[in-house]
Amino acid sequence: MNKEQQTHILSSTDAALATSFPKDFLWGAATSAYQIEGAAAEDGRGPSIWDRFAATPGKTYQGETGEIATDHYHRMEQDVALMAELGLRAYRFSISWSRVLPTGTGAVNQAGLDFYSRLVDCLLKHNIQPLATLYHWDLPTALQDQGGWENRATAEAFADYAELMTRHLGDRIDNWITHNEPWCATYLGHGNGVHAPGIKNISVVGIVAHHLLLSHGLAMPRMRAQLKPGARIGIAPNLFPVYSTETSPAVLERVERELDFRNRWFLDPVFKGHYPEHLFKHLGCQEPDIQPGDMELISAPIDFLGMNYYNPLRLQSEQQAGGETTFEVLNAAPGIATTEMGWEVYPQGLMDLLAWLQQSYEIPELIITENGSAYVDQLTSIDGEERIVDEQRLQYFRGHITAISSALAQKKTPPITAYFAWSLMDNYEWAEGYSKRFGIIYVDFATQKRVIKDSGRWYAAFLAAR
Ligand code: NOJ
Repeated sequence: MNKEQQTHILSSTDAALATSFPKDFLWGAATSAYQIEGAAAEDGRGPSIWDRFAATPGKTYQGETGEIATDHYHRMEQDVALMAELGLRAYRFSISWSRVLPTGTGAVNQAGLDFYSRLVDCLLKHNIQPLATLYHWDLPTALQDQGGWENRATAEAFADYAELMTRHLGDRIDNWITHNEPWCATYLGHGNGVHAPGIKNISVVGIVAHHLLLSHGLAMPRMRAQLKPGARIGIAPNLFPVYSTETSPAVLERVERELDFRNRWFLDPVFKGHYPEHLFKHLGCQEPDIQPGDMELISAPIDFLGMNYYNPLRLQSEQQAGGETTFEVLNAAPGIATTEMGWEVYPQGLMDLLAWLQQSYEIPELIITENGSAYVDQLTSIDGEERIVDEQRLQYFRGHITAISSALAQKKTPPITAYFAWSLMDNYEWAEGYSKRFGIIYVDFATQKRVIKDSGRWYAAFLAAR
């Protein structure tokens, strides 16, 4: 990408937006292991619950799997070069647990460790800071076969794995995330079953969530013992603002319940050391077996909160024929244009969420670990150049980055220090397979060719304007 290609895409207000952020604000892009790596059975990698789930007929869009994905495992150097071309200062990736510990515990796969070690070296060589996520939903199947996250022993196994990774990479990685979107791992994985391991049993979700949180708590001291002084650990839930246009007490109470379910379920234990009061009753699940010391471990101070934000939730009540009122939670206000995921684009929602976080918790530092949108992309040729003119995605980033700038200027947010676009490149969107594209880099999945989209060009120009 040359200078000219970069500058024509940036408006004068974009340039002002770029300089509104502190000099040391960190800009990056994010991915996760199963969504990009491929090489699922290579170099000693063991299977994860996502390999198994995706291979089960009917679970994913057209039966698509992450077996090849974007073949990042073989194209890592080229992908890091693209990050450098974009001018990224940071990269958030996840480690595949079963690539380094094929059966989840015990024997270490040196080739797996070597891959992440090479990745980190390559990033550092390009002056890109690594931010590593330990768990982005791909539990080794060997652990699932012993009960997975329903089994307390999985939390112990996670702490061993976390220690292993910090021992091997802690000399070069300063920023760590234990869990990505534990709500999804819990509810989508065990409640409605649309994600791996595909369990549909609402009664266990409280137990699963507790073990995920416990694993975070058990891992932290083990990780700190390996890390350099000043290294930082956080957790990255997905969070939502919840709105309703209705004002009846019943609806307002439902909004609070939804906030418990979506946000406080994971935030309250981490920041306050307890679960929301009526959560388990409202969920209709079993109470987790909270052993003495669990909540202290879970609420040990974190260095930063990661947060994935995509869209707001809209709650509405419906009067049923029998006189009963039911409630519906939508990913978009009715009748408006949405992204390909059916999610509303609402940057104000991010501002409202940040203000809510500031009022509700003592958050030492906040990192936006994911933010982005899926749209249909069309590869075109303009003046002999391959282009993806993804104006809507570009607008999405512009809108949300503007919202962050405003929240910071108005001091209506916990301190935000970094932003990661989701995603560096188009990838495997879980149950949606390859049908949803979130990348700022286009991937032709047949040839593995990469093309920087206009949104990527814009992001690069935005970063260069700083
Ligand atoms: C959140 C998840 O962390 C990521 O894996 C997913 O691709 C994006 N949201 C988009 O749905």
